Amino acid sequence: MRSILYLTCSPRGAEAYSRSAADALIAALRGRHAGLEVRHRDLAVHPPPLVDAAFSAAILAADNAAPALSASEALIQELEAADALVIATPMHNFGVPAVLKAWVDQIVRIHRSFRSTPEGKIGVLADRPVFVVVASGGWFTGPSPIGTPAQPDFLTPYLRTILATIGLRDVRFVVLEGVARDVDAVARAFGQARVRIEAVLDGV
Ligand SMILES: Cc1cc2nc3c(=O)[nH]c(=O)nc-3n(C[C@H](O)[C@H](O)[C@H](O)COP(=O)(O)O)c2cc1C
Repeated sequence: MRSILYLTCSPRGAEAYSRSAADALIAALRGRHAGLEVRHRDLAVHPPPLVDAAFSAAILAADNAAPALSASEALIQELEAADALVIATPMHNFGVPAVLKAWVDQIVRIHRSFRSTPEGKIGVLADRPVFVVVASGGWFTGPSPIGTPAQPDFLTPYLRTILATIGLRDVRFVVLEGVARDVDAVARAFGQARVRIEAVLDGV
């Protein structure tokens, strides 16, 4: 592995728990791959453009050279150039934050990153590891430690499905839950994340 694309999505910048844990994952990757090049894109600071009428017209016309698709093309090429993708994201309202959805809408593009066939949508990109570090204020993989029922989770199934649509099937999640609760919950979440980071980097 020579290069990774690192997407950060939290509005909380360097304070973000998702970013802090993803930084640890990247440090561990650097330890395994000397000279690893990290391209960092902070989606919260530089949100991708939202889909507009010109974008919609261009993709329906399969006009891949249209100016309305230039940002999309640049983001797809940036992803294609990376040997692995790291996404650090909070859970917002049971799903991905708007800036991450905006990135998805730019890179998941018919006639470019996937093809529509009678068998369904077929991804065009070469597969590569994707590490997704998720921080959530509460719990969604199961009940909270005091038994509050698990929240709905539209984030992890969504990312798994949409990334597979463009050909990225090797998606590994590191989850920090309960980080809005108290300092003990944060410490517990980071302790579990450290163990999980070692597990997801196995063989990488
Ligand atoms: C707009 C907004 C929506 C949120 N929605 C959820 C949610 O649905 N479930 C949850 O557990 N936490 C939710 N949170 C809390 C964040 O997930 C939590 O603060 C987490 O730390 C964010 O990760 P970060 O530190 O990387 O920004 C929300 C926070 C904000 C600002």
